[in-house]
This record gives sequence, C-alpha cells and structure tokens, in this order.
Amino acid sequence: MNILVVGRGGREHAICQKLSVSESVNNVFCAPGNDGMKGDATLVSIDEMNFSALVEFVEKEKIDFTIVGPENPLLAGIVDYFQERKLAIFGPTKKAAEIEGSKAFAKQLMSKYHIPTATFATFTDLQAAKDYVEQQGVPIVIKADGLAAGKGVVIPHTLEEAYRTLEEMLVHKRFGEASTKVVIEEFLEGEEYSLMSFVNGDKIYPLAIAQDHKRAFDGDQGPNTGGMGAYSPVPHIGEDVIDRTLASIVKPVAEAMISENRSFTGILYAGLILTTEGPKVIEFNARFGDPETQVVLPRLQNDLAQVIQGVLAREEVSMEWDENVMLGVVLAAKGYPNAYEKGLVIEGVSSISEDAYVFHAGTKLKDGQFLSNGGRVLLVGAKNTTINQARKAVYQELEQVSTDAFFYRNDIGERAIKNVSSSFERTHTR
Ligand code: AMP
Ligand code: GLY
Repeated sequence: MNILVVGRGGREHAICQKLSVSESVNNVFCAPGNDGMKGDATLVSIDEMNFSALVEFVEKEKIDFTIVGPENPLLAGIVDYFQERKLAIFGPTKKAAEIEGSKAFAKQLMSKYHIPTATFATFTDLQAAKDYVEQQGVPIVIKADGLAAGKGVVIPHTLEEAYRTLEEMLVHKRFGEASTKVVIEEFLEGEEYSLMSFVNGDKIYPLAIAQDHKRAFDGDQGPNTGGMGAYSPVPHIGEDVIDRTLASIVKPVAEAMISENRSFTGILYAGLILTTEGPKVIEFNARFGDPETQVVLPRLQNDLAQVIQGVLAREEVSMEWDENVMLGVVLAAKGYPNAYEKGLVIEGVSSISEDAYVFHAGTKLKDGQFLSNGGRVLLVGAKNTTINQARKAVYQELEQVSTDAFFYRNDIGERAIKNVSSSFERTHTR
C-alpha cells in the first residue's frame, strides 16, 4: 500500500513512523510534514488545507488511502471532498467532526443522549454569562466554543478572573471567531485520561489509554496547552473503568452520531475524568490526540495500515499492546502557549540514544542543524518495563537537547508513580 498522512506535527510523525514499519506499506508520504520526519516518510510540500492539490497527488501516486492528522482540514470537509471523488480516506466528515469543532454541539449531544459530562450552559451575551458565573460560583470552567488548539479553556478561581476571561473571549475575541460563543461548565475533580477509539459507525475498536498533561508548567500550573507530555498505559485507571467508559460514553456517542445523521468514521478521542460518580467527558476530538498518539502508537503491535483498512471495511480487528510503558515529554519554545520565537537551534537531536524515540513537531533542518519552527518543538519518548525507568531515560536524553531557549515539564508521569505507590501502600498496610 501507499499511504498519505496529512499534517505536520509530532502526532503525524508517530503515525508515519508506525506506518513505515508496516509490512503492508511500500511508501509513506506526509503532506506537508516536517524535516524531522524525513527518515520515516517522504515529504510532499502541499498544505493541509489545499484539498485539490492533495487529491491530484493521491491520484498521481496511486495512494491507497489517506489518514488525516489535524482537526482543521477535517472541519473544512477534507473527508467529504475525497469521498466525492471516490478516494479512500480515514477520518470523519465535516458534519461528524463538529463533535470537536463546536463544544456547544458536543455538550448538547451529550445532554440529549444522557452521556455523562459536566453540567453546562452556553452564552454569546456577556452580561448573561457573568450572571450565570455569579450564580454558580468559582472555580468554574470557561471554554471558547470553537477550535483553539487546546488553549481555549480557562479555569478561574475568583469571580474577577472569571469576568475578565468572559470579557476577553466574548468582547475582545481572544480566540477570534472561536470565542464569540462560550461554554461555561461545572468544575470536575478526578484523574484525567484519554481514550481514543477507531470508529466506523457503530463499530468501535478502542486503543490503549494515555494520560496527557495539559498545563504548561510543573504541578499543573500555568495556562492550558495542546499537551506537554503523556504516558501509556495509565496504571491507576483500571480495566473496569475503561469498560465503563466504553459502555456509558463511547458506544452511546457513536450511536447518537448515527441517530443525528452524522455517522462517525475515524478516530474518536474522548478526554475523560474519573469522578466519584464515574467517568465523565471533558471533551471529544475527531482525530488522534497530540501528544497521546506519540505514546500509544509505539505500543501497538499490529500493522497500523492493516488495522485501519480493517476498520474501514468494518471487519473484526483485534489489537495487541506492548506491555511496556511508553512515556514522552514535549520540548517547547519558551513563551508557548503564548508568543514564542522560531528558528532557535536545538542541540544534540542526532545523538539521542537508540532506546529513545524523537517525534518532531515543529523543527526545520538548516545547514545540517535542527531549528525550532513551532511552539511544541519535539517529543522525546522511551519505552521501558516501569514508568520510573521510562522517565529516567527520557529526562536523561532531554538534558542534551534542551537549552535556555526551551522548556519542558519535569513531572511527566509523577501522578502515575504517586497513585501506584499509594495503592501499593494501601494493599500492604491492610
Ligand atoms: P479541554 O480543551 O476541553 O480538553 O480542556 C483542557 C483541560 O482543562 C482539560 O484537560 C482539563 O484539565 C481542564 N478541564 C476542562 N473541562 C473541565 C471541567 N469541567 N472540570 C475540570 N477541569 C476541566
Ligand atoms: N492532547 C489533547 C489533544 O490532542 O487535543
């Protein structure tokens, strides 16, 4: 098979890497990709949003199917565009991708079909939103309705901060069109986890779960980002919780999408929180998560191209997972998720040990040297028998690539270590 991956980040690098080791795959192309992926894919310099040029390429190169990484082309209808031309593509149609594209749509869908999530209300009017916040109290969660690359969520702990956030979003349009409407939700507490599933209508093929780290700084401080690091599996989220999540959330939502005439095919990403009342939805995405994909796909033992082909054909597909833990830490440019510089020299990428993975997110090669070309620059990951060992390996490698121009979180995986050791203590003191 020849496969085209659309996108340019660390997620797409992980997808290309997995496809490049698939026995059933001859050529992996990535449009537009980034320089750091060159060992795993042939780069095609076509922008994600240039659908006609992508179709022309697919027809010329006899691509068997296309996988779409990011949300923007999905929401702009890339899948519809390919399907109208009878080209195989793995991803949701524009109507189905709305589950990510509008938080208000996703919340209304969940409320109509009784899918557990935080109670909420949506607003376009500033005064009405302020009144609601005053009545609900803080902490409270304020989300831009549309796409904001993971950054459109603010959790104010004072009323003043809540009012300021609402003004910034609704009046000053901090996230442009995406924040002309806001969703205000109840603040939930519990352990977060991400469950991605391949979905084709009512057929669901769950992947291994992961835990992301959304805040910029150690100890979950600082602004929300696209994700600063992840690991898989998540030892403190048991099989019973995953089963419950599938039964009470993933299956009903896939069925709800069919009932709403928005049948979903592609990767349905559920961002979840385990509350005292059970699993609840924080958000849905209509694609692979980033950075979750970088720690989940390396654990997949099957041929990814065959798995996706099986899903597209609605066949039975069983996936096996490496029992080792995969942990990855994102190296970001200082300033991210706000303004940051590009073109900064990244040290020592080529001398990273063979036991570690590097997935490039925003890098560029110039005169044989990698320069940064985005906020999230790359992810260093390692697989090992324990989370502690995987962590050690990753942080050791990061020391040689990071300089003053970059930052990374030092506490990726700590929650798992704490949770596992406290359950160990519980069992052993009983
Ligand atoms: P989202 O972009 O919707 O995934 O939100 C980003 C992050 O904000 C999540 O990963 C959570 O850490 C936090 N968050 C979002 N919604 C809630 C909520 N209702 N209660 C508590 N935390 C939340
Ligand atoms: N890591 C969260 C996301 O991909 O949206």
